[in-house]
Amino acid sequence: MLVKTYSSTVFGINATTITIEVNLGIGINFYLVGLPDNAVRESQQRIKAAFKNNDLKFPGREITVNMAPADIRKEGSVFDLPIAIGILAVSQQVKTDLLDRYLLIGELSLDGTIQSTKGILPIAIQAKKEGYKGIIVPKSNAQEAAVVHELEVYGAETILEVVSFLNSVETSLKIEKIDIIKHYERLVETFDVDFKDVKGQLNIKRAFEIAAAGGHNVILIGPPGAGKSMLAKRLSTILPPMSMDEALETTKIHSVAGKIKGNIGLISQRPFRKPHHTISDIGLIGGGSYPQPGEISLAHNGVLFLDELPEYKRQVLEVLRQPLEDRSVNISRAKFSIDYPAGFMLVAAMNPCPCGYYNHPEKECVCAPGVVQRYLNKISGPLLDRIDIHIEVTPVSFDELTNHIPSEGSIEIRKRVEEARNIQKNRYQNRFGIHCNAHMNKQEFDQFCKLDDQGVQLLKKAMESMGLSARAYDRILKVARTIADLECSDLIESHHLAEAIQFRSLDRSNWLSN
Ligand SMILES: Nc1ncnc2c1ncn2[C@@H]1O[C@H](COP(=O)(O)OP(=O)(O)O)[C@@H](O)[C@H]1O
Ligand SMILES: [Mg+2]
Repeated sequence: MLVKTYSSTVFGINATTITIEVNLGIGINFYLVGLPDNAVRESQQRIKAAFKNNDLKFPGREITVNMAPADIRKEGSVFDLPIAIGILAVSQQVKTDLLDRYLLIGELSLDGTIQSTKGILPIAIQAKKEGYKGIIVPKSNAQEAAVVHELEVYGAETILEVVSFLNSVETSLKIEKIDIIKHYERLVETFDVDFKDVKGQLNIKRAFEIAAAGGHNVILIGPPGAGKSMLAKRLSTILPPMSMDEALETTKIHSVAGKIKGNIGLISQRPFRKPHHTISDIGLIGGGSYPQPGEISLAHNGVLFLDELPEYKRQVLEVLRQPLEDRSVNISRAKFSIDYPAGFMLVAAMNPCPCGYYNHPEKECVCAPGVVQRYLNKISGPLLDRIDIHIEVTPVSFDELTNHIPSEGSIEIRKRVEEARNIQKNRYQNRFGIHCNAHMNKQEFDQFCKLDDQGVQLLKKAMESMGLSARAYDRILKVARTIADLECSDLIESHHLAEAIQFRSLDRSNWLSN
């Protein structure tokens, strides 16, 4: 006799349905075929113990389990449940009527409880696409699947719950049907920080508004205690809210990485990731023998904050270059390669020198000659090339810090950011993969960042007098484009350029001598 059950495996952020065939023959062997990895091979032991502990019978016959398609590698322990149910069905302990309508996913403990797993959201999306009626998943992962409409989602705690469901038996061992999460017109966000907490610093807040409006990467340079970390943490509060598609994509990545905790079905606000400077390159960009998403992918559609930038290993910063350019990362292995999305806004922060007080208005820098230059050299030019806005942060005065003048809050700033983003959305609607000014390629740049003769002259003069290197040119124009958008101006005018020029501190030839 032959029985089929259905399950799923995740590759990158997409799932593929796996058919599991279980056949009973003569003899007492157990064969598992169809490119299983070690964790799948070990399922036999877990299933045997789970059956024993739940008064289910493991057939004393030859059992052959085949997993198809055979060319896809099956990894992990999520196939325990579909294999176990297949064995129960082939030995007539479970009815077969519902088996082709539900996907089964879950690892079994020896006592028959079902353990949580990774990647449930992509699996649910694929199940719906292929017309399954529903999926049966570990209860702790059920919320992740509940964002997919028109799919029945059941959260199961034990194998006996699944058995009684498939046998349509009413018992106290009932699997829980999860309510589908409604789609809101605007996703619910709960930020615990706000720009209104930042006193003074009007010019810095303006710089953040421009960065958010154009999606520009930012580096903050300033002494300890100036408020760099405080400002960076607030950037996601002024970025436009995520669209449903963005939220789903970000949630998929977190689902695959097994990072969704508790009852969060959908990640509905932009992620803010702050990896420590001791992070490895695998931790940052992703990797491992079954490549997992790294911090840059977990920050997808949100903010990646690298505090104390020069403290990161140089090799770690080097690997950031390609994903910053492509907004995705490709991880290759001998037999396959995986792409993970990695479209984040980079915010980096650094002290101007090891002691932190170089260029400080009041305190003396105690670094030896040459040390400051060496410190700055730790950040490679190509990485700096991908950062449009440099912001020098000086601490607020005591008076400013203690006064009671209300500061503008994130809601007001975000409104202006959203208006500027809408202009960009229209501008780039027919350009694949370009959503804001920071994403412009050469073609868009030539079309949308045109200057009249007067503008060219002004920029040339300013660049010469400030000693700006040529690489600053494109960046200034892109940022000026965003400043013009914030004013709803089609043309880039001289005052837009003048403001944009201020954001190139690290390109100034005299940065180390003033
Ligand atoms: N403009 C400001 N308004 C209110 N508090 C501030 C401001 N700047 C700094 N602070 C206070 O100083 C603390 C240290 O700031 P932090 O962001 O950690 O500095 P940095 O990262 O530059 O070393 C903050 O937690 C905050 O309490
Ligand atoms: Mg800090």
